[in-house]
Amino acid sequence: MLKVLFVCLGNICRSPMAEARFRDLLIREGLEQKVLVDSAGTGDWHVGNSPHEGTRQILDQYKIEYKGIKARQLTKDDLLNFDYVIGMDMDNINNVHSLAGSESVTIISRLLDYSEQGNKDVPDPYYTGNFDEVYQLIDAGCQSLLDHIKINHKI
Ligand code: 4NP
Repeated sequence: MLKVLFVCLGNICRSPMAEARFRDLLIREGLEQKVLVDSAGTGDWHVGNSPHEGTRQILDQYKIEYKGIKARQLTKDDLLNFDYVIGMDMDNINNVHSLAGSESVTIISRLLDYSEQGNKDVPDPYYTGNFDEVYQLIDAGCQSLLDHIKINHKI
């Protein structure tokens, strides 16, 4: 089974939104048994918390399930266990790289590296308050990431 982990700073706004949308796409395509999806934060402030109200509102609006998603902190083991670790911005990527040992073969990339988007960072809605803009970026990134995975792993 291919394993994909979305990573942001707090694991309450962007990465749980990406986890929920990506799982939703997998279910729509009947691929949920072939690809495992999870999310984590580089920080530990919100461990155990449900997604931010803004993320819950946008997922409700698009009728995307997020039941059971709780914040957790990224671990070194994640960098061995997951095939893809997908950060939301360059800060996330730098934090992931400093945790990853040289033995890690995980693919570490930004979500928008997979889409046609000009600015490759997903802005943090915890500070901007713009959850709708973030959903549009995450939605496009998740669709492009899934296309990439389907082609590259022949699933
Ligand atoms: P996220 O947003 O990384 O998209 O989950 C944040 C959530 C919380 C904090 C920062 C960013 N915080 O500083 O508590």
